[in-house]
Amino acid sequence: MKFSLAALATGLLPAAVSAAALSVRAAEVESRAITPLTCLVFGDLVSPWWLNRCKDHLDMVVIDLREAAEYATSHIPGSISSPFEPISAWSQMGPGDLLLELPEFSTLTAYLGSIGVGANTKIVLVNGVAVPAFPQAASPRVATTLKFAGLSEGRVSVLDGGFPAWTAESLPVTTAVPTLTPKTFVGSQDRSFLVDINYVAARINKRNQGIFLIDGRDQAVYNGSVLEQWASTPGHIPSAVNIPAQTIWNPDGSFKSTFELLALVRSKVGYGASRSYGEIIVYCGVGGYASSWYFVLTRILGFGGNVKFFDGSAQQWSQVYPDNMTVGNNP
Ligand SMILES: *[C@@H]1O[C@H](CO)[C@@H](O)[C@H](O)[C@H]1NC(C)=O
Ligand SMILES: *[C@@H]1O[C@H](CO)[C@@H](O)[C@H](O)[C@H]1NC(C)=O
Repeated sequence: MKFSLAALATGLLPAAVSAAALSVRAAEVESRAITPLTCLVFGDLVSPWWLNRCKDHLDMVVIDLREAAEYATSHIPGSISSPFEPISAWSQMGPGDLLLELPEFSTLTAYLGSIGVGANTKIVLVNGVAVPAFPQAASPRVATTLKFAGLSEGRVSVLDGGFPAWTAESLPVTTAVPTLTPKTFVGSQDRSFLVDINYVAARINKRNQGIFLIDGRDQAVYNGSVLEQWASTPGHIPSAVNIPAQTIWNPDGSFKSTFELLALVRSKVGYGASRSYGEIIVYCGVGGYASSWYFVLTRILGFGGNVKFFDGSAQQWSQVYPDNMTVGNNP
């Protein structure tokens, strides 16, 4: 018996499937825009290349945190403008209230739904870059706010290097504003990482028990030679070490490497707190730079539930314990 290729093919494929029909099917599959494999990897930091390749393939909202005027001039196609303020409120508070506290949970979830964040939507945050690093710090602050709303690892990422990194790679920009499709966002409130002033007061001067406080402000503020407007007394919370958040980023606004960031933390905390033991409480002036360290420790360096966030920060501490601020450099 002789086998011919044609006979073999006829045996395997129904006669009706011609080569022409096969090529039509291939085109159909193409047009269904199969998600590229690379887009299934959603890191804590994403590159401009990744974002450009994947943003239209995933259920994803790209939030531009720069000033509205900057967004109006030029932005990533499909990104929406949400300058910092609605997500992490600076103001809307009375005299004596703390600055930069988390928004009301219900306000936050309603807002997220209104910008198209649904049950499985991923979010990429896009910041500007400047010195001092306040624009860079906006993304980690918003990531912290989103964690409070129940959106954390695997759901929220930061464009490494912010908008300047996008334009540096000559990727497309636009002035067109996308139409938002509201979704229902339920969220689940996560307060597990937030600590109040009583919690902190019970943990100062316990470095020998592996409990560390990291103050993310600039050295001159930490050591008391400069007093920021929101603090009532100069200096820092007793036993806190200073790692200025400015040192988290390279001059171009990208995050330093994991090795460099870990070395920075180790230089002040040693091995007294690690991913699996000890505790690190982060704070700063009002809770902005503290979020940067929170993001670096938990998302980039892999520390977990042993990192706590004191949102009241030096503002609240200096109001409540004006006589208990330490002046001077690192212990
Ligand atoms: C505090 O830090 C600033 C900036 O690094 C420095 O110039 C100043 O000498 C320091 N002051 C004290 C008291 O250590
Ligand atoms: C102030 O600090 C000292 C030592 O740092 C501590 O023993 C004391 O309890 C603190 N007082 C308050 C009110 O926190």
